[in-house]
Formats: sequence, C-alpha cells, structure tokens
Amino acid sequence: MTTSSPPSSALGEIARIEEFHALSGQLTRFLMEYKFGIDEITTKISILQEEFAHLHDYNPIEHVLSRVKSPESIFDKMQRRGVASDIEAIRAEITDIAGVRVTCSFTSDVYRVFDLLSGQPDIEVIQVEDYIAAPKENGYRSLHALVETPVHLSDRVVPVIVELQLRTVAMDFWASLEHKIYYKYRTDVPAELLRELKEAADTAASLDEQMERLHGAARHSGTMPL
Ligand code: GTP
Ligand code: MG
Repeated sequence: MTTSSPPSSALGEIARIEEFHALSGQLTRFLMEYKFGIDEITTKISILQEEFAHLHDYNPIEHVLSRVKSPESIFDKMQRRGVASDIEAIRAEITDIAGVRVTCSFTSDVYRVFDLLSGQPDIEVIQVEDYIAAPKENGYRSLHALVETPVHLSDRVVPVIVELQLRTVAMDFWASLEHKIYYKYRTDVPAELLRELKEAADTAASLDEQMERLHGAARHSGTMPL
C-alpha cells in the first residue's frame, strides 16, 4: 500500500483550521467587549431618539441595526490583510468588528445625529469618511466613522472601537439592493449594470435633496416642529 502525503494546498487549509481553533478560545471573551461597545453606542442613540421625540416631537432616526463580526469573517479578513493570529493585532487592525448602522430620515439628520454622538465626552472620533460629500465611484453614499468608547468591565476599562454608518432611507435602500445585485455577479459585473446602478444612486441622491427641501419648507411654514 502506498501512502501519499496531502497536497500543499490541503496542508495550508489544515494549518488555517488549526490557527482558527487556537484563536477561537480567546475570541469569545474578546468579542464580548465589542458587544458591550455596541450596547453603549445603541443606548446613546436610543436616548437621543427618545429625547428628540419628547422635546421636539420629531424623530430623526428611522432605524438602527448592529452586528458583531463573526469569527469566520474576522478570520477571512485577517487572511486577506495579513493580520497576525494575535488578539492585540486584531484589535489594532480590524476596526469593523463592532458595527452600528443608523438610518435617518433626511440628510441633515445624518449630520445632526453624528454631531450629537461625536460631541459626547466619552466618544472619541478616530476617523470620518464622508461618502455623502464625496460619494464612491459606484455612487455609494453614507457617512462612516470609527468611534472609540470606554467599556467598564469588572476588572478594567477597555476602549472599544465601533464602526458607525449613518445614511438616509434612500441611501440605505440603494446600498442594500446594490449589495444583493453586486454579489450575484461577484467579479464579473457587466459595465451596463454598473452604469445603471450609478444612475440609480444619483436618482436616490436627488430624491434626498427634494425631501430635504420639502422638510425645510414644512419647518418654515410652521406645520412641523424643529
Ligand atoms: P472593508 O474591508 O469592506 O471593511 O472596506 P474598508 O475598510 O475600506 O471600508 P469602507 O469604508 O469602504 O466600507 C465599509 C463598509 O461600508 C462595508 O463593509 C459596507 O458595509 C459598506 N460599503 C462600502 N462601500 C459600499 C458599496 O459600494 N456598496 C454597499 N452596498 N456597501 C458599501
Ligand atoms: Mg471596513
């Protein structure tokens, strides 16, 4: 009987699985910190939402979604970016482990909600990417920010980074459908589809502008609070 050794690609895969298992024990506790970071941020958002509704009879937020990145997708990103299998390297280099997406009614609300959050003393803004002022080439629009907030554990305080995405309903509509369409094609996206997606993004942007104008007009006529 002859024994053949597994091909090197299989060995690579085995090494990957072993590395993943070694990390996953530590990951559970580590990921809890991100879950708490999300809790801190979403509580702040709920407070703003409730207070706004109470004071101004107006709610600038349509909905809030959050997620902690799965261990599998953290691991995929580590491989793609060449991040070492080490908790501190992951903490420093993978900044979208905790994600909070806030969908607002109007473009002005996006900036308003972000200003209210970023002005709080326990939120430190690390990075802002304004894809509303400067949309991506494909038409994607949203305000992205990395914020850091302290999480108080039983024996220490840990700073946790949360990726915030703020957008309007129209931007959110475009982004979720674009994601679905785009991922069907993976790499081979037909040029005509890209052109039409960009056109749809421009339509969504002009819808936002129109709604913002109507919102402003309603406010000035006194038929709306704020
Ligand atoms: P990632 O490695 O994907 O996190 O890229 P990045 O760190 O360069 O961040 P970027 O600001 O480009 O995007 C972060 C997130 O924003 C993505 O994971 C998506 O949720 C969202 N996003 C960015 N660009 C697009 C886009 O073109 N279409 C859609 N639907 N979502 C996008
Ligand atoms: Mg990212």
